[in-house]
Amino acid sequence: MAAMTSLTWNDLPGAATRAWGLTTLREMARDYLATLARQQPYGDVVRQRILRERIVDVFDPELLRRLMLEHADALIRWERGPEVFSQTLGQSVLVTEGPVWHRQRRLLMPAFAHKRMAGYAAFMVDAGSAGLDRIQPGPVEMSGLFSHITMDVILRVLFGTQAGDQAAPMAAATQHLSEVGFREMFWPMTLPDWLPLPGKAKKRRSLRSLFGFLQQQLDAPPRPDGADLLSGLRALRDEHDGAVLSEQAVFDECMTIFQAGHETTATALLWWSWLMASHPEAQARAAAEVAAVIGRRLPTADDAAALPWLSASLKEAMRLYPPAAALMTRRLSRGVTLPWQGRQLQLDAGVMLRVTPYLLHRDPRWWTEPEAYRPERFMPGAPEVPRGAYLPFGQGPRVCLGQHFAMLEMTLVAALLLQRFELQPGNAAAPKPRLAVTLRPEGGLTLALQPRRPA
Ligand code: HEM
Repeated sequence: MAAMTSLTWNDLPGAATRAWGLTTLREMARDYLATLARQQPYGDVVRQRILRERIVDVFDPELLRRLMLEHADALIRWERGPEVFSQTLGQSVLVTEGPVWHRQRRLLMPAFAHKRMAGYAAFMVDAGSAGLDRIQPGPVEMSGLFSHITMDVILRVLFGTQAGDQAAPMAAATQHLSEVGFREMFWPMTLPDWLPLPGKAKKRRSLRSLFGFLQQQLDAPPRPDGADLLSGLRALRDEHDGAVLSEQAVFDECMTIFQAGHETTATALLWWSWLMASHPEAQARAAAEVAAVIGRRLPTADDAAALPWLSASLKEAMRLYPPAAALMTRRLSRGVTLPWQGRQLQLDAGVMLRVTPYLLHRDPRWWTEPEAYRPERFMPGAPEVPRGAYLPFGQGPRVCLGQHFAMLEMTLVAALLLQRFELQPGNAAAPKPRLAVTLRPEGGLTLALQPRRPA
């Protein structure tokens, strides 16, 4: 058999960048997704050079899957991401690499295992019901509603406390830090926060209020039943050496679970609520399913597993608007060679891989009429799509730790909402997606909520 010819970074297609790529960098900061979408017409593996960086966009789901699963040990996060995130998240599982990450992930995993979810469902339902009790029929600003509920869920799970009046300022601080973090990622370094530069004072205030809030939770007397995740983190023992987590490590993990665990879920619910409001038939089917399975009582974790259409409606919302739409950028810590389209694709150490769920999720080769909202795509028996073509939670060993948690939470909150209300667009026009770490509707989203009449 003839030896396969090799294909290196230099052989890959891609447009030449101007001004050493600085123009592209500016375009990315302005509209990241549109800039990356311009790479797609060149092919499935496309190169770009920005300054000294050799970058590759991978649009072939199968190749991407092989890279992220079979060659996971050759991938580290693009350094700028952890550098920026560590300002808020410290040295938590989302930031670290190698053996340190491995140990943290192993320690945290049991708290997020599937079998633990039923225990969390009650917190999710309590927080969802309490959040919905606060709203009146009529125009409702959905971003505030979902931020409050998802923050309340994570606070009940982490600390056994409730969000109360702190929810709105903490959500605002989180969002502000996301926006700042997103902008900082396109700078080569972060200038010290004490410098009297525009925006630094607000960043300092946001960090101070988030840190203060979290510290308050950690300083509170332990809950007597020890059922909260914080007690669980403090009780963890390393299976090899019996070591406990330092208080700093507990703080960092709590901050990460708090941050990673509420804005993403709130964003997914936000897009879902728009899609329900603008697709009344899909909404009616979801509401009928909820009525048939749950009626008027409170939902449980078992119910969530018996709501295939509702679950499909959420998954399809995350296809069109994945909260983590981009920025899963990785660097190759060593060279990899793998067969691809009859050739040996050879990527050197140092090359950066850009993974963009937003674009993969809208590829017409796997998704017919990709712009259309069709929960049918995720119903049992629907035609299969390549597995790497749908990755709202990432893939490989660094896949989202909270994915089962998030799916359960979204399903329960969505069921509670549909039990009570019918969602209508009101005066809302189709929101424009805007990426700032998460993909949010620009200018927020206000829907008209009408009490749902019993079927
Ligand atoms: C719809 C909601 C959510 C979405 C779309 C989402 C998405 C993601 C994605 C894409 C990653 C991987 C990023 C990468 O590969 O670079 C990730 C990582 C992570 N997520 Fe989530 N997430 C969600 C909810 C949650 C929740 C509820 C929690 C915790 C309660 C959580 C905790 C984490 C953690 C700790 C990591 C880091 C894992 C690691 O690096 O080993 N996420 N998430």
